[in-house]
Amino acid sequence: MKIGVFDSGLGGLAITRAIIDRLPEYDYIYLGDTKRVPYGNRSQETIHDFTAEALNFLFAADCQIVILACNTASAEALRKTQQEYLPAKYPSRRILGVIIPTVEAVAASGAQNVAVLATQSTVDSRAYWYEFERQSPATAVTNRPAPLLVPLIENDGLRYIDPVLGDYLQGLDAETLVLGCTHYSLIKDLVREKWKGSVFSQDEIVPDKLANYLKRHPEHESLLEKSGRYEFNVTDLTPGYQKLATQMFGSELVLRKVET
Ligand code: DGL
Repeated sequence: MKIGVFDSGLGGLAITRAIIDRLPEYDYIYLGDTKRVPYGNRSQETIHDFTAEALNFLFAADCQIVILACNTASAEALRKTQQEYLPAKYPSRRILGVIIPTVEAVAASGAQNVAVLATQSTVDSRAYWYEFERQSPATAVTNRPAPLLVPLIENDGLRYIDPVLGDYLQGLDAETLVLGCTHYSLIKDLVREKWKGSVFSQDEIVPDKLANYLKRHPEHESLLEKSGRYEFNVTDLTPGYQKLATQMFGSELVLRKVET
């Protein structure tokens, strides 16, 4: 059995890279829904349906555990897929999101005043706000939508990011900034130059959290193959996606086009 990683697009490759660096022995399947990215401005119902299709693909491909690396999918679809989809279709498998582990890491740092930069859908879902309320009710949380960052990153527009990012960060009165979107780890260095306080980037959080989860759940870990095979699937493939994938993953990789 394998570990699946799902993202709406290619941003999840940065987290996948960090997970593989930390836990290289397992077999991984990545799925990026490049045909339908971005998810971040869509309705909860649509995001749920797209996520369920991705799960169908990844579970049929023998994933024991699927990580929703996409914050938008984690925010809008994790709970429903865990409570309805999984018990009905794959009761012995697991779906893990990225918001709970991210909030755990931030809460453990003792941060009292946090700003979360995320897609419009993630902000509208209030998922970060609810999770901080559950884990660390004294923490003040501001959510800031940053809808232009993903299209700029996806369309080779990094050279235009600086003023847009500056505008999104302006007026945020917090000591800690959470990058609540897969794609933002690609610009974390620029964010750290601009942000006066600490910055939490999920590629630096999720790998340790997954390692810890596997240690605590030998009933799942023992089912995972350990031949270090990695497979990268997308729902649409262009030379531009191939280039961006290499940039996100940090080294050459072969993308395969699949139907979900
Ligand atoms: N992957 C999404 C996320 O992490 C961002 C891209 C999108 O809007 O689909 O929120």
